[in-house]
Amino acid sequence: MDLSAKSHRIPLSDGNSIPIIGLGTFSDPAKTPKGTCEASVKAAIDAGYRHIDGAYIYQNEHEVGNAIRAKIAEGKVKREDIFYCGKLWATNLVPEMVRPTLERTLKVLQLDYVDLYIIEIPMAFKPGDEIYPKDENGKWLYHESNLCATWEALEACKDAGLVKSLGVSNFNRRQLELILNKPGLKYKPVSNQVECHPYFTQPKLWKFCQQHNIVIVAYSPLGTCRDPTWVNVSCPPLLKDTLLNSLGKKYNKTAAQIALRFNIQRGVVVIPKSFNPERIKENFQIFDFFLTEQDMKNIEALNKNVRFVELLMWSDHPEYPFHDEY
Ligand code: A2P
Repeated sequence: MDLSAKSHRIPLSDGNSIPIIGLGTFSDPAKTPKGTCEASVKAAIDAGYRHIDGAYIYQNEHEVGNAIRAKIAEGKVKREDIFYCGKLWATNLVPEMVRPTLERTLKVLQLDYVDLYIIEIPMAFKPGDEIYPKDENGKWLYHESNLCATWEALEACKDAGLVKSLGVSNFNRRQLELILNKPGLKYKPVSNQVECHPYFTQPKLWKFCQQHNIVIVAYSPLGTCRDPTWVNVSCPPLLKDTLLNSLGKKYNKTAAQIALRFNIQRGVVVIPKSFNPERIKENFQIFDFFLTEQDMKNIEALNKNVRFVELLMWSDHPEYPFHDEY
């Protein structure tokens, strides 16, 4: 694979392609000043990023849209140069809700289509506008999932031209097989967005996805922001790792750049989040060096099989994806 800052798209099974690095945009809305996301997406496009990962529930999708449209208006990029991934949340998995939910995202973005639209998690919650529905006792309100029916509604959105490619996120092997083996399947999922980094390398899911031509998109590729309200902080900080730092010295790179390079060199798309202009640039400087085969093996050996993002609050959901080995 000949990846460069200018040309770093990899093929998807449906004939489209995806830039191997994108900017992650999840940031706690309560702690993030308004406009930060928009400025960061603009900085990322200026730095060479052509892929932005977002979601309606991040509450900053309008800022992403503003930034993309501003860069198009400026003449910096054309719409077709940009790859935007949006997400269908758990409260919108009922088939009749799928198209209106995607249309809401397009309205917020003020764009005509998204490049990739993915089921954000395989667990359905009580349908409606409340993102995290709970009853009066604080118990989560779940809903029966029918992932195949949701998928069919997504296929109709692709046929209608609202989205170019369809994928999933946080799906385990069984859930991927549910879609892949669906009678009358029209479009295969092109990607599965999951946690993936040197401490959680996903060797089995990676292999399974490779066999089925499903691209893995790595979220938390730098080991997350370590916010203890949702991150398993008993797992040590990835970027403090001795090997990643010593390889950084060897290549005159940072531990973050080594962690990202490791994934892209094995064909895994990375979506590091940063709202800091210097780190946005830093994370993109991963196309001017190669890790040796031995470096790659040594990094793979760091795998601890422990997740930073466990989503344990939903572990009693019938479709909780992380009880299975992979
Ligand atoms: P910030 O937005 O201030 O740069 P992940 O993508 O694994 O979820 O990691 C995101 C976290 O890592 C954010 O807290 C982000 O903070 C931080 N981060 C992003 N890039 C770097 C980097 N190059 N070095 C150190 N921390 C980084």
